[in-house]
Amino acid sequence: DWTMGAYREEAIRLIREQVGGKKVICALSGGVDSSVAAVLIHEAIGEQLTCVFVDHGLLRLGEAEQVVSMFREHYNLPLIHADESELFLSALDGVSDPETKRKIIGGLFIDVFQKYANEIEGAEFLAQGTLYPDVIESVSFSGGPSVTIKSHHNVGGLPEKMGLKLVEPLRELFKDEVRALGHELGLPPSFIGRHPFPGPGLAIRCPGEITREKLEILRKADAVFIDQIRKHGLYDDIWQAFVAILPVRTVGVMGDGRTYDFACALRAVTSVDGMTADYYPFTHEFLGETATRIINEVKGINRVTYDITSKPPGTIEWE
Ligand code: XMP
Repeated sequence: DWTMGAYREEAIRLIREQVGGKKVICALSGGVDSSVAAVLIHEAIGEQLTCVFVDHGLLRLGEAEQVVSMFREHYNLPLIHADESELFLSALDGVSDPETKRKIIGGLFIDVFQKYANEIEGAEFLAQGTLYPDVIESVSFSGGPSVTIKSHHNVGGLPEKMGLKLVEPLRELFKDEVRALGHELGLPPSFIGRHPFPGPGLAIRCPGEITREKLEILRKADAVFIDQIRKHGLYDDIWQAFVAILPVRTVGVMGDGRTYDFACALRAVTSVDGMTADYYPFTHEFLGETATRIINEVKGINRVTYDITSKPPGTIEWE
């Protein structure tokens, strides 16, 4: 892409000009925005960039390993894997209110990032994958719902507190342009096309109290659902798809015995920007096959439901 090639060159020039010989730190979430920002900045200043990947223990099956290996091995990018799942999960123990979950996760995220960032001596800049719509939103809808959506990733106030200056090379771009830049930088298409994933992760797909047992079951069920979607070639037609584990056990039969296991809900929607959404019209055959696979392959689930609520009045996530 000609335009993105030119943008890339210009962005690299500007990053070098801004940063000089100083060090930059970046919170890498594994999402498209922070990944594209990190790879671009790394191309501009190499080892002067260190990324911190905060692993809150609420990621999907194999996700932490995938992100860490891609950036360390493929891009050779200096990356700290901050595995703090114990810290996050014990802080969330017994918490069931959705906003309290978000506050705990957001607060700890900042503490953890700060702790690791302090170990990087002489860092003067903080890199962020802020996009143009984020810039606009924070000006015109301050306090509105779009700001809350970003609340976990918004390290607002942190740069000043840590005495850091911001590097935001994506500030002029829209989401589809960030994806094009990602292609230009050689990020794998499967990575660039990934569905959005919320900052609080699986915490808000586990309504009610979060337990390690529920998280483990949820991860497996979610992996089966996504595998089904990919196998049927539907992934790119869907904005977001995931499983939520419900805070209820129901009775089932398996062989000669009764089971008393968790129920789960499948969620898949189409959307343009996440503000409104329609449930995805899977065929009954697809739904039946998926339910059978989840119940056979995931110990701990014996009932599968499909959420056919659109947004509004529903939200995409369950919390
Ligand atoms: P809802 O559930 O509000 O979700 O319809 C709209 C979009 O926002 C994502 N989402 C979040 N992202 N922190 C995030 O970073 C959050 O607390 C959060 N809550 C919802 C959701 O995954 C969907 O893409």
